[in-house]
Amino acid sequence: MFDIRFLRRLFGGFLISLALGHSSATADPPAVAAPPKTAAPAAPTKEPALPPALTHYMGREIAPAMGYQHAAWLIRPSRQQEEDCATLLKALQFKPGQIVCDLGCGNGFYTLKIAPQLLPGGKVLAVDIQPEMLQMLNESARLAKVDNVEPVLGTIINPRLPAGKVDLVLCVDAYHEFSHPVHMLREIRKSLAPHGRLVLVEFRAEDPNVPIRPLHKTTKAQVEKELTANGYKLVEQFDKLPWQHVLYFERDDNWQEPAKP
Ligand SMILES: C[S@@+](CC[C@H](N)C(=O)[O-])C[C@H]1O[C@@H](n2cnc3c(N)ncnc32)[C@H](O)[C@@H]1O
Repeated sequence: MFDIRFLRRLFGGFLISLALGHSSATADPPAVAAPPKTAAPAAPTKEPALPPALTHYMGREIAPAMGYQHAAWLIRPSRQQEEDCATLLKALQFKPGQIVCDLGCGNGFYTLKIAPQLLPGGKVLAVDIQPEMLQMLNESARLAKVDNVEPVLGTIINPRLPAGKVDLVLCVDAYHEFSHPVHMLREIRKSLAPHGRLVLVEFRAEDPNVPIRPLHKTTKAQVEKELTANGYKLVEQFDKLPWQHVLYFERDDNWQEPAKP
């Protein structure tokens, strides 16, 4: 799984993201680094032209992506105590054979914990827009001898998932960074298997005691408003984590996509 095909995908996708003019805003934590100026010219691609990155969506300010330089924060020893990751994993009730997407996987903190729970027969599609994050994940997976992980270099408008196949798309602390939420939600919707779910785990903006900067927090009401507007319905919630809310969505098959102006 971590072979030349992975590298081809990694660098092929990287060139595509250069072609798409990957955004490089900075904030807290620092954003995705700008692509190196010496990079080879982008290969021709069939990706649609990139619409401008949004600064706001439905009244919410979008946070810049957390740069790979800060990946160590994602695997800090205090994370379990602060976020109670074990309880989140238990609540998600993974099953053998499932195809799970860890969307915005970073350096793979959750990917590596989920993958063994999907055996036999299942796998994690680990998607991120930063090749450096996927390289770190790749190395950790190799050391941990986890081989049912497929790293996928997404773009800021497309996670490149197979249509109709994914049982669960998990987004931990990542949705609020999507610079193109409408595009991403459209692609995720297409990727879901019948009764597949999108689970958003976000820091609670309702709670001033959650020690995360406001730009990286969302309210339940805001998330539900955005997801409903994009063809999802809220089907379940989990409120027992110390810092985050967990919102489970399914496709709303009665939803009509608004006509393009
Ligand atoms: C704060 S990190 C969280 C990483 C991981 N989910 C975790 O909890 O350890 C957010 C990640 O989302 C990624 N990201 C931001 N926008 C994305 C997009 N449109 N598609 C895929 N990944 C994205 C960033 O590159 C970053 O690695």
